[in-house]
Amino acid sequence: MKTFHTVAELRAALKVERLQDKSIVFVPTMGNLHDGHMSLIRKAKEEGEVIVSSIFVNPMQFSDQSDLERYPKTLEEDKRVLEANGCHYLFAPDALEMYPDGKRSQTQIEVVGISDILCGASRPGHFVGVSTVVTKLFNMVQPDCAIFGNKDFQQLKVIEDMIRDLSSNVRVIGVDTARNDDGLAMSSRNGYLTEEERRIAPTMYQTLLWAKEALITNSASHEDIREQAQQKLEAAGFRRDYFEIRAQDNLQTPSEEEKRLVILAAAYLGNARLIDNLRLDLE
Ligand code: PAJ
Repeated sequence: MKTFHTVAELRAALKVERLQDKSIVFVPTMGNLHDGHMSLIRKAKEEGEVIVSSIFVNPMQFSDQSDLERYPKTLEEDKRVLEANGCHYLFAPDALEMYPDGKRSQTQIEVVGISDILCGASRPGHFVGVSTVVTKLFNMVQPDCAIFGNKDFQQLKVIEDMIRDLSSNVRVIGVDTARNDDGLAMSSRNGYLTEEERRIAPTMYQTLLWAKEALITNSASHEDIREQAQQKLEAAGFRRDYFEIRAQDNLQTPSEEEKRLVILAAAYLGNARLIDNLRLDLE
């Protein structure tokens, strides 16, 4: 695997691949890679010939400076696992290679509406940072296909909407959430948990499963399910952010008749903010 830190080097290498008509598949990340990221690399190998990944902890998508600073940086270990999993090129720019001031670009991409709900409401500006950096990375890599995780379901929706709105021809693929044996969704932020919190953390997935079952058996209204789920999370030791039942297609509040649903949860546990979701197709 070759690692590049500049856009010029990356472009030069990918130009050679493109001239040979190779298809390019891209997996953007912020590093501190775990098996969830690797499931995206494995999917990438099924979808094309040249696998490109990026590691960039994007300042523009962090509203809280201390959250940005403490984000785990493990580049050497990340390189090792990427190479072992068959990635061909890693792009790992520093902040000045991405932004003139190392923080943000003057031009911002905002997918209006969907960027302000759910995680966007708790983290103002977050999705503008994500859609802007992903646009820049797509312009640099010019992939045929890009792979994202369903773990960040709203992020995937934002990117899909952006691709449609900007008439981009990048094919976007979502990959199912990789979980630990106890159900906890793998995440770089799980490293912030104490031993005690790590024991509590799977309650989020269990609560999503409980809500899914309640929807399948139609045993309570969406409103009741949401409130009971919040109480279960609080009883386990989480602090509230949101627990929502939404329509899969647009993440809006669905009617009680809607069949294609997604249950999305976000909550704080100690110093970590954890998110997870489950999709549900009734009938
Ligand atoms: P990061 O959190 O590093 O995640 C990179 C990709 O891995 C995302 O598409 C995310 O959904 C996926 N992923 C994370 N945990 C996963 C899991 N347990 N199972 C499956 N996929 C998982 O998401 C970002 O970085 C950034 O916002 C980025 C898109 C790179 C833009 O900066």
